[in-house]
Amino acid sequence: MGELDPTFIQEPEHRPKPAVIEAHGIPEIDLSPYITSSSSSPNAIHDLVDEIRDACKDWGFFQVINHGVPIEIREKVQSVAKRFFDQSLEEKKKVKRDEANPLGYYDTEHTKNVRDWKEVFDFMVDDPVVMPASYDDDDDGGTVEYTNQWPHHPSELREVCEEYVKEVQKLSNKLLELISLSLNLPANRLEPFFKDQTTFIRLNHYPPCLAPDLALGVGRHKDAGVLTILAQDDVGGLEVKRKIDGEWIFVKPTPNAFIINVGDIIQVWSNDTYESVEHRVRVNSIRERFSIPYFVNPAPYTVVEPLAELTNERNPARYKGYNWGKFFATRKLSNFKKLNVENIQIYHFKKPDEGKIEDVVTRVENVVI
Ligand code: OGA
Ligand code: NI
Repeated sequence: MGELDPTFIQEPEHRPKPAVIEAHGIPEIDLSPYITSSSSSPNAIHDLVDEIRDACKDWGFFQVINHGVPIEIREKVQSVAKRFFDQSLEEKKKVKRDEANPLGYYDTEHTKNVRDWKEVFDFMVDDPVVMPASYDDDDDGGTVEYTNQWPHHPSELREVCEEYVKEVQKLSNKLLELISLSLNLPANRLEPFFKDQTTFIRLNHYPPCLAPDLALGVGRHKDAGVLTILAQDDVGGLEVKRKIDGEWIFVKPTPNAFIINVGDIIQVWSNDTYESVEHRVRVNSIRERFSIPYFVNPAPYTVVEPLAELTNERNPARYKGYNWGKFFATRKLSNFKKLNVENIQIYHFKKPDEGKIEDVVTRVENVVI
């Protein structure tokens, strides 16, 4: 590709800075007291929960080590992902997503209406999942089934991905328990939300880009779900917006660590005790990069609202409840094509401090048209 297609070009204020600022401070948390050793002292667990709480408050991001996911399984997915993306576009498009089923391959995702410099392959943990067809407040918008589309080549992709899911699922459950404890809730408080989960995994490939100063691999965004468990390779590119000063901080890859961030749903459940933090991905002109985010999401029929135990008269709920399946379906649809209106966001459900609640439905309808 010679000149950069204008659809990829970020507005000047959102372009990556030439100099990278490396992360000093994104906490690295050793999960061994909770995961790999069976007889940890209550003190060790207490300290770990404190570390998680501080990380969620100060950064919204942390890395975990000694997380229990075998390195061989992660390496296998990384290698099969590379073999998948190395194929011709024609081959990859055999499992192309479409408007009815947003799972599979695509290379046209937009974040905040600018095209991302990447190609992806998405699949869900539960298959199939019945989702609302779109955002419709009257519940008569119908449903659609999202089903995984597994490619014929590489033939082992499905098996390797399913093995990976089994392992990361265990880590996800442990992290949800630790986060519950860090909010002074019982460890299993969040478990019921995941009976019919809409968790999905994305294989990301960021090819080298001739104009890495103009484009981004993923534009600035927050993750809409509960938690993201990200495996990144040694190239690096993830940047996190530091809460204290809004500076974009490069997350230096730590071999075999996972990067965890709390998503919008934890922000709402915790009634803003924890915030979902903006992040983005820069690309470079030399090395391709692979990453695998595991997006932990609840059942489609979940009404997302501040947890009753975390609100009271002095700290009333700051959000109106919203239906996760409808929110997710709307996001998926608006990701599918460039829209000239703002994407649906949780702040549309934020209650004003006083006075009238704004008309959310009107805004949402603007998005899906
Ligand atoms: C995402 C994301 C980060 C990365 O896909 O939501 O933030 O490093 N990815 O690929
Ligand atoms: Ni993200």
